[in-house]
Amino acid sequence: MIARAKITGTGMSVPDRVVRNDELASLMDTSDEWIRQRTGIEERHWIGEGESPATLAQGAARQAIADAGLEERDIDCILLSTLSAQHDFPGTSFFLQDRLDVAEVPCIDLRAQCSGFLYGLSFADSLVRTGKYERVLVVGCEVHSTGLDVSTRGRDVAVLFGDGAGAVVVEPVRDSDDPSGILDVRLHAQGRYAKKLWIEGPSSAQVPARLTHEDVDAGKIFPKMEGRFVFKHAVTRMPEVLREALEAASIKLADVDLFLFHQANLRINEYVAGQLEIPPEKLLHNIQRYGNCSAGSIPMLLAEATRGDRLREGQLVCMTAFGSGFTWASAVVRW
Ligand code: UT7
Repeated sequence: MIARAKITGTGMSVPDRVVRNDELASLMDTSDEWIRQRTGIEERHWIGEGESPATLAQGAARQAIADAGLEERDIDCILLSTLSAQHDFPGTSFFLQDRLDVAEVPCIDLRAQCSGFLYGLSFADSLVRTGKYERVLVVGCEVHSTGLDVSTRGRDVAVLFGDGAGAVVVEPVRDSDDPSGILDVRLHAQGRYAKKLWIEGPSSAQVPARLTHEDVDAGKIFPKMEGRFVFKHAVTRMPEVLREALEAASIKLADVDLFLFHQANLRINEYVAGQLEIPPEKLLHNIQRYGNCSAGSIPMLLAEATRGDRLREGQLVCMTAFGSGFTWASAVVRW
């Protein structure tokens, strides 16, 4: 009998190259002060020659698999969330699989942007609880740096994003006396606002060609965001779904030991924590060092929390995200 699914290992990987705010200020009309004040970001990591989404995902996956006490060949399913696929066709997960010593296991690319890791965790939870798969690798991985408009035209978005990957292994809990595991995950989406934070091209809906030279010149290949609109929805939806997940798991907010929020903006997270009266010491951030790594942000935080002794056996962690789609999600896990 499978009582529950649980996260048995965590890992993360970022490129070596550190890009500080001052370096961006040499490329566009921005400043270290503006970026820190509005977002909390001090630096981020960008890939260099020889690195790719698959190499970052591999680094995170290897750590997570070793942390779970497993061998790579023990993995029986790969779920990889990303909005910055290594190649749109076929994605990233296949290139990750090729770099791991795994069998011909299924590879699934998931597309839920900044909520992507929690979407992946939810599907892994279902796959493991139903007995379909036993050792699922869930990865959140982004390489934003190669797709940013680093001129002043793109400054509102370019300063926000970083490259990075986080991974976990999800396995069954068979002992009914073991209280640890994924207690609940709640997922939502609202397609009405898909164009509030998106990349317009290439688009297979554009006839006769999904990308033209004019599209490239017009900057359609770069992410665009209505920042204030997204901000307002983030600070509404995050508390909403967090409460929903806690209620579904029959957990009181005050009993949660650690809150891990998507790292889009330090001000968003502090505002949400303030609304919910979450004490600052229960909230962990890494946006200062990594920027917004979209689907990578939460599993990277989780990897840091477990290694830094911020999350110990028996403790409760609540992870909450909001992002493009719009998508939003929250998971409650007993470690
Ligand atoms: O990860 C998915 C979810 N994403 C989010 O949740 C992000 C939500 N949005 C935000 O975090 C914020 O809206 C931003 C950090 C993106 C922007 O902060 P803001 O306080 O909303 O600034 P704004 O867009 O209203 O821009 C204020 C001013 C504008 O100038 P004017 O019109 O007041 O003269 C911008 O042109 O700041 C200017 N600006 C910049 N200045 C220096 C925009 N980007 C920059 C920049 N450097 N990089």
